[in-house]
Amino acid sequence: MKKKSIIVIGFLGTQLDAGQGAGRWNKWRPTVSLAQHEDMVVSRMELLYTLRHKALAEVVKADIATVSPETTVNLVPLDLEDPWDFGEVYTRLYDWARAYAFDTEREQYWTHITTGTHVAQICMFLLSESRVVPGVLAQTSPPKKQREGEAGTCTLIDLDLSRYDVIARRFDAEQRDAVAFLKSGIATRNARFNALIDEIERVAVRSRAPILLVGPTGAGKSFLARRMFELKQARHQMTGPFVEVNCATLRGDGAASTLFGHKKGSFTGAASDRAGLLRTANQGALFLDEIGELGPDEQAMLLKAIEEKRFFPVGADKEVESDFQLIAGTNRDLRSDVAEGRFREDLFARINLWTYDLPGLAQRPEDIEPNVDHLLAIHAAENHRVVRFNAEARAGYLRFAQSGEAIWSGNFRDLSASVTRLATLADGGRIPVALVEAEIARLRWLWKHGGPTATLSGDVDLDALLGKERAAALDLFDRLQLDAVVRVCKQARSLSDAGRQLFQASRAQRSVVNDADRLRKYLAKHGLDWNQLGH
Ligand SMILES: Nc1ncnc2c1ncn2[C@@H]1O[C@H](COP(=O)(O)OP(=O)(O)OP(=O)(O)O)[C@@H](O)[C@H]1O
Ligand SMILES: [Mg+2]
Repeated sequence: MKKKSIIVIGFLGTQLDAGQGAGRWNKWRPTVSLAQHEDMVVSRMELLYTLRHKALAEVVKADIATVSPETTVNLVPLDLEDPWDFGEVYTRLYDWARAYAFDTEREQYWTHITTGTHVAQICMFLLSESRVVPGVLAQTSPPKKQREGEAGTCTLIDLDLSRYDVIARRFDAEQRDAVAFLKSGIATRNARFNALIDEIERVAVRSRAPILLVGPTGAGKSFLARRMFELKQARHQMTGPFVEVNCATLRGDGAASTLFGHKKGSFTGAASDRAGLLRTANQGALFLDEIGELGPDEQAMLLKAIEEKRFFPVGADKEVESDFQLIAGTNRDLRSDVAEGRFREDLFARINLWTYDLPGLAQRPEDIEPNVDHLLAIHAAENHRVVRFNAEARAGYLRFAQSGEAIWSGNFRDLSASVTRLATLADGGRIPVALVEAEIARLRWLWKHGGPTATLSGDVDLDALLGKERAAALDLFDRLQLDAVVRVCKQARSLSDAGRQLFQASRAQRSVVNDADRLRKYLAKHGLDWNQLGH
């Protein structure tokens, strides 16, 4: 490959490059020195100067011609009123660079940053870093002893950080640390969950836009919201507090006042001014859990507050400002709330930029084992007592915990309670098979009462779903069965989730390969499709 020609872009140094008479050759002059290196020939130099220094620029150009006839020097006059004015210098340089015909195939560009005002040097740095000037920085320094003809040194700094292995590795490690922090160090194995947390990490450190966390109870929405905040706080990206409220607890008159504050005397009971949670969250994060429970007035006020970063406290005639990151949580499907007019479409659109659907534990059975180990480790640390499973007990517990029978309806909370019971009851720091069997019975009991089949409420209108004629043609037997299946589907999170619930028994006996497929076929037999069932 042919070596690319070296092109230097630099400011004339009005002090450093100056010098009169023959004595100037005994002085180290950075711009001239660039042309004095025998081992590197500069093909062209773009020498930027302000109009006042034209004479000096001419001298430097002539001197370079004597030491390095191969070097062409282009004098580039810049009409700068104040070389210390950042805006002016940056704009001039930017315009010049934008118009310059860079030819990176044939030429390499060195931006000389030893000369020029500090402002000019910073601008050069910024333009190189942003690749407006596609080159490396060149920093020259004088020889130890200044003698005639000595060039000193020239160091190249490449701002393309990806080439710096050390920095790149450090960055990777930091990112891995952040992801581990969001997962509290649990080495989760579920690919979907891991990809989700990876993305949340990137968004958490880069964005202040609203984030929406969706997921069933106990999936970790509140936990993750707080961790995201702590990550930003540790990186000095947030100085304010983490403010958290469950919107389901906000009811009636007090709701708006709790969120937006109020003016003293604005309603009975408003004995003094109140800041409100939005203002308290200024420069921090506001976590609105169960945001779907907000009333219509509060939804409208919230939308304005996040769009304009200002709002009216209740009863106030002056707006107040607050700048916070909104993190919203919900275990409802806000899309259907919007469709049914319970949730404002414009507010949903605003908070639906980064939406993360956290899977429940049953959706990531491979993560149960690392979570169990994590919970045992926490138990040991908190109680100064290490507890382990017997091998057979461990296998039995995990087998049940990962089976379709274990629905983990309270997700992490259920698992945490279960492990706590086992660890507390374990004598001599060992969890034996008998304890596991008792725990499994307890979980079965728990889920039998709180599980999906017990909560099959709500209306299913088979006439509307199938059409009156087809519904009427069904035997009562089929009608009852279909009615129950549709109920399970309507409250399931996905086709697979519904399949798992409906075919639990045959699944445990491993007699069904794909329960989602079996369910799909059953629905198709009745002319129904998963998407028709309110998902
Ligand atoms: N990744 C995790 N690592 C450690 N603990 C977790 C993790 N996720 C959740 N937890 C713990 O599990 C419990 C439930 O989590 P969390 O309160 O965040 O759930 P949630 O989704 O907000 O539930 P809800 O909808 O009921 O508010 C908490 O005690 C939390 O500390
Ligand atoms: Mg929560």
